[in-house]
Amino acid sequence: MVHLSEHLRDCKRVLKDKGSFFLNLGDTFYNGNLQNVPHRVVLKLQEQGWILRNTIIWSKTNPKPSSSKSNLTPSYEFIFHLVKTMEYDYYPTLTKLSDKTKPSLPPRHRSVNGDYSKSVSPYLPNVNGKNMGDYWNEDIVRTSVANQKLNIKGEHPAPFPNEIITLPILQTSKEFELVLDPFMGSGTTRRVCDKLGRDFVGYDLKKYLTI
Ligand SMILES: C[S@@+](CC[C@H](N)C(=O)[O-])C[C@H]1O[C@@H](n2cnc3c(N)ncnc32)[C@H](O)[C@@H]1O
Repeated sequence: MVHLSEHLRDCKRVLKDKGSFFLNLGDTFYNGNLQNVPHRVVLKLQEQGWILRNTIIWSKTNPKPSSSKSNLTPSYEFIFHLVKTMEYDYYPTLTKLSDKTKPSLPPRHRSVNGDYSKSVSPYLPNVNGKNMGDYWNEDIVRTSVANQKLNIKGEHPAPFPNEIITLPILQTSKEFELVLDPFMGSGTTRRVCDKLGRDFVGYDLKKYLTI
């Protein structure tokens, strides 16, 4: 078993100087006491020389229900955007100016069957838009529906919604560039890379069956 700190040190070692690292970590309770794991880890990473550019809130409109009668249901996670230098590649994602009601959310671009459009992505920079916010709201129920459509065999406890990984990839890489997912799970990132024309490498502690 590779310790998390060793794992993350290797991520820094193989990342190119202009590359970006997006880290999504869940939190945990110990004797009922929330441990603040994501922030403890990111503080260590900053000590190790990483530059933190954003703490994105992934808000789940339909989180896993909790039966607790003494605290609230956890309904969001953090995604940290980390870089090695300030000269990192970045292609800003701008929202439509007309999108007054939800200024920080990306425009929807999926067709009714949940698939990505084959045409140019509306996530591409819109010079008349305004900079996207760091609060992303994605319903995880749509994820399990998407997984059924993708015929994933076997259970995976925490797959990403496609949108959560689409934006970071479009914001920090170009076609044919290499994306690494060192926590590959059932391979959401791999499938999004296929659709977006990025090369992909990934691995995981466990083996999940996907087709
Ligand atoms: C939330 S899932 C990742 C989802 C995935 N990125 C995707 O695209 O669907 C987290 C995964 O991290 C894996 N994992 C945890 N610690 C690991 C380690 N030290 N080395 C490799 N994989 C690890 C777990 O087995 C689990 O599959």
